[in-house]
Amino acid sequence: GRQLQLREVGGILLQAATVDNWSEIQHFEAKPDDLLICTYPKSGTTWIQEIVDMIEQNGDVAKCQRAIIQHRHPFIEWARPPQPSGVEKANTMPSPRTLRTHLPTQLLPPSFWENNCKFLYVARNAKDCMVSYYHFQRMNQVLPDPGTWEEYFETFISGKVGWGSWFDHVKGWWEIKDRYQVLFLFYEDMKRDPKCEIQKVVQFMGKSLDETVLDEIVQETSFEKMKENPMTNRSTVPKFILDQSISPFMRKGTVGDWKNHFTVAQNERFDEIYRQKMEGISINFCMEL
Ligand code: A3P
Repeated sequence: GRQLQLREVGGILLQAATVDNWSEIQHFEAKPDDLLICTYPKSGTTWIQEIVDMIEQNGDVAKCQRAIIQHRHPFIEWARPPQPSGVEKANTMPSPRTLRTHLPTQLLPPSFWENNCKFLYVARNAKDCMVSYYHFQRMNQVLPDPGTWEEYFETFISGKVGWGSWFDHVKGWWEIKDRYQVLFLFYEDMKRDPKCEIQKVVQFMGKSLDETVLDEIVQETSFEKMKENPMTNRSTVPKFILDQSISPFMRKGTVGDWKNHFTVAQNERFDEIYRQKMEGISINFCMEL
């Protein structure tokens, strides 16, 4: 069996090393020109990250290949001693910085709010997110074994997964979006019309790019390209951490794969739980394309 790798902070399960490093994370000093990419796990973090990087580099593919993607925009809550923590990496970066987090709003270091940073949130429909997380926990050897799909279904809806409940995460970020500088995007929109969503990111970042550069970014950040790209497909991560023979990191990249996993009964039960948990929240998720 795998070692237990998650511990609770404020009722949210996080990686044990993150919890050990909690004080440093909470005292992180954000700067006003920081851009923070925020996602619930498996919602398109890597994808939006590559898009942001390509925009920052004005579509220069070579510059985006300067390092494997995990090293380009640190996760502020990342910790794996003795390697430098996410906070330590961020502290050595020149501004303007792009950083990442999976933290729910209530656990975000307060200086991000105090400095009115820009937040780029990507949400993905809960069912596809659950499927993606299930396969990720199968292959990720430093996260708990997900068990069977039936078992994982219960774990996911009860929020007993890393970074907590999908419902609370999405609700939390949705609820603050009009009070802060938040661009709230959807994975499904990015699949349907990548150019349109990328254009929104360009504007949000205060940039303007030529049409040809925009088209280049759409091409380079396609699932097919990113699956083949060793800088984005995690192929450099050792097998004892990510075992891609179990399930590839770039797995399917589609909308609606939940239909291949949910039974009719599970789907009905999920819809009922969803209605309860998301009551009063006016978000509409696209469930198929
Ligand atoms: P699937 O498991 O459904 O294939 P994260 O980066 O937040 O961990 O999210 C991973 C999910 O995003 C995976 O979903 C992965 O395949 C998908 N993904 C990564 N790059 C993508 C891209 N360029 N286009 C569409 N989906 C992408």
